Amino acid sequence: MFISIQEAMKQGSGNVNVRGWVYRERKSKDIAFIVLRDSSNIVQCVVKKANVSEKEWADAEKVLIESSAEIEGEIKEDKRAPTGYEISVKKINIVHFADVFPINKDQSVEFLADNRHLWLRSRKMTAIMKIRSTVFGAIHEYFRGKGFYEYQSPIFQAVQCEGGSTLFSVNYFGKPVFLAQTWQLYAEPAIFSLEKIYCIAPSFRAEKSKTSRHLTEYWHAEMEAAWASFIDIQNHAEGVMKYALKKVLENNMEELKILERNVDKLKPAAEKPFPRITYTEALKILKEKNKMEVEWGKDLRTIEEDELVKNFGTPVIVTHYPKIVKAFYMKEDPSNPEVVFGCDVLAPEGYGEIIGGSEREPELVKIKKRLEEQGEDCSNYEFYLDTRKYGSVPHGGFGMGVERLVSWICGLESIKDAIPFPRTMMRYKP
Ligand code: 4AD
Ligand code: MG
Repeated sequence: MFISIQEAMKQGSGNVNVRGWVYRERKSKDIAFIVLRDSSNIVQCVVKKANVSEKEWADAEKVLIESSAEIEGEIKEDKRAPTGYEISVKKINIVHFADVFPINKDQSVEFLADNRHLWLRSRKMTAIMKIRSTVFGAIHEYFRGKGFYEYQSPIFQAVQCEGGSTLFSVNYFGKPVFLAQTWQLYAEPAIFSLEKIYCIAPSFRAEKSKTSRHLTEYWHAEMEAAWASFIDIQNHAEGVMKYALKKVLENNMEELKILERNVDKLKPAAEKPFPRITYTEALKILKEKNKMEVEWGKDLRTIEEDELVKNFGTPVIVTHYPKIVKAFYMKEDPSNPEVVFGCDVLAPEGYGEIIGGSEREPELVKIKKRLEEQGEDCSNYEFYLDTRKYGSVPHGGFGMGVERLVSWICGLESIKDAIPFPRTMMRYKP
């Protein structure tokens, strides 16, 4: 029976059967060192000419990196081996002899991106994809644990929600429709039946900028809840981020080590409450502590967000943004109509906005006015506006960019490594 390499090392001694791919190989006259890789780990295997059949030795001699193999042997501790164990091989069956693997050391970012399908096998990508899996699982657990239903919205949509400039238009039998930027306009109608809903689904943004934070296709974790106050929304935003981070710290220390992530920089976010400050307070802090002057009413730019967060060791929730910089659906603050009940959660270390959310504007006339100011034709939004006509309730929600979260947790240089096949303005292949 085959066991994983990790299980074999846990067993630590005796006979084991493992299978996987050749991660490294080095041969001399009568001995071949094969480092075998599976999804769990790597282990050094030693094939001695004297211990195997002639055919097995011939196979071991010609095997190249990324060939697949089944190995039976005795495992024992060996401090010199890459992961502290070594298998002395009794039987080896090469399942497939690989061609010369195109990826070797010191290859350019472009080359690795062109060979993404093969680069996924790297220890780095494997570690990231495991952490990503933990994060997805944690988001489901968090919301289901709080009594939310999983709900799906369409990807082909008839209207914009987050501004026309990042819409992808698709030829839909001769009519233009858009790929979802968010589930929101199709989620709000559903809170009247399910009350508390969430999803994790792809969102699309025609981002024309080349940054380390933008993808054109990303996974969006969104929630919407009836009766939710602005504070409830912030609590869930903080709650789900913390929950996902804690799960990674519990389950993926090995992977964080492979990624050389400084875990001390993550721990405060798992332990301490996220400071909550208003936009106006943020401008004050920026001026006093960071010597950056932002005119009231201007959106915070990336550099300003990054400087602001440096004053805290955890993510920060910025609330009450000026109405003019935020989306049409955000609720006006009754005590100050210049600002809205909208919030962004900003991550430390330059990872920027991970979550954007708000309480929703309940008043039909105000929504219509703001849509018109944006040049939108309200008749296209009738299905949405009906949410404010039949039993409207206070409600709100947020969206979290899952790759932004993964990128921060893993300490990645670019968001592109937070997703198996990144899509950006420059790349849609392989
Ligand atoms: O702030 P955004 O645009 O908010 C919305 O879409 C709301 N309708 C969500 C809601 O209230 N249901 O996007 C939410 C999050 C951002 O904070 C960011 O993390 C992520 O989506 N995001 C991107 N991630 C990767 N690449 C991009 N191009 C992204 N654009 C937004
Ligand atoms: Mg936003």
